[in-house]
Amino acid sequence: MTIPITRPCFGPEELRAVQLPLESGWVVQGPFVRSFEEKFAAYTSARFSIAATSCTTALHLAVRAVGLEPGDEVVVPAFTWISTANVVEYCGGRPVFCDVDLQTFNVNPAAVADAVTDRTVGLLPVHLFGLCAEIEPLLDLARRRSLWLVEDAACALGARYRGRHAGTFGDAGCFSFHPRKSITTGEGGMITTDRADVDAAARALRDHGTSRSDLSRHQGQGGFLLGDYEHLGYNYRMTDIQGALGVAQMDRVAWILAERARRARLYDEMLADVEWLCRPVVPDGHEHGYQAYVCLFRPEDPGWHNVDRLHERRNGVMACLESAGIATRQGTHAVVIQRYYAEKYGLRKEDFPNAYFADRLSLAVPLYPQMTDAEQAEVCDRLREALDG
Ligand SMILES: Cc1ncc(COP(=O)(O)O)c(C=O)c1O
Repeated sequence: MTIPITRPCFGPEELRAVQLPLESGWVVQGPFVRSFEEKFAAYTSARFSIAATSCTTALHLAVRAVGLEPGDEVVVPAFTWISTANVVEYCGGRPVFCDVDLQTFNVNPAAVADAVTDRTVGLLPVHLFGLCAEIEPLLDLARRRSLWLVEDAACALGARYRGRHAGTFGDAGCFSFHPRKSITTGEGGMITTDRADVDAAARALRDHGTSRSDLSRHQGQGGFLLGDYEHLGYNYRMTDIQGALGVAQMDRVAWILAERARRARLYDEMLADVEWLCRPVVPDGHEHGYQAYVCLFRPEDPGWHNVDRLHERRNGVMACLESAGIATRQGTHAVVIQRYYAEKYGLRKEDFPNAYFADRLSLAVPLYPQMTDAEQAEVCDRLREALDG
């Protein structure tokens, strides 16, 4: 691809960073992971940050730490990456899906409230593509019904609501450092929380359930003794090579996010005359993190009568760009139409119309800090030509 969907920001600092653990010989969850956690906590203003191997494993640890038992229900958006729901299944729980808003792609708080039953223990809203979900009514609902709230903030680095960073509203937040995200450690994830008990539980669970971390064993006295293993844990330890990469990425996070936001505003201007494309919205009080610039293909109002036809036209636009060397992607997918969930729970797409329309009609364009103005203009020109072209 001449213009890829994204490109990680790696330079000499990252190249040097990954050499350091190789030189020291400490390559798994050690001092660099600790330093990455500290920088992440400082940036988000979370009290604690706990690294994991991905956002999926971070979410798994977080829901175990806040309490999820077999048979429990958790409310999950119908339009999100599949792992938001998978972590509930890993614990023997049941994800109960609710529809999203087609403008913001985030959960509709009224649909979340409707999905709560006597078996619900928690809410798992997603801050999709870098825009915080409507968090106040969700926090209010969680308080009234005594539910925990874990934020899937996989895409939400740099996302703020009323000046407060994503991942610091609920009981815990979980971030991703997959290469499609604003900063990357290859694979990688981070939990943020203000709760000391969640911090302690997540730290133990990511390391087989130990009561004593390798860091404290190797840096403290009596390192020859193992701790006790009270819980059924996992090996979700981030490597120190990734930790060092994360530290280097955090050193330039402000620049990365500012450039993404600047390029997003440029798209807003350049695409203002493209009426068949709805650009990302930023409601009052929000700061968008722009993990992705996801539009909705909307030459007509979508409905059941025309969505399949519109879907074909959107795919035609995407194929045109692909043949011009420009990558595009659907935003994410409707989990409710993935076979595992559709068959297990007998789900019907008709019950989640906006999630289905978002699945069929969303369109993400390339966005990364190193893009040039000329490349952005090329994306926009090709988009204009591609409609039914
Ligand atoms: C909303 C959402 N949740 C969870 C994940 C999972 O993140 P990871 O790939 O780090 O496991 C992603 C990844 O794209 C995501 O977009």
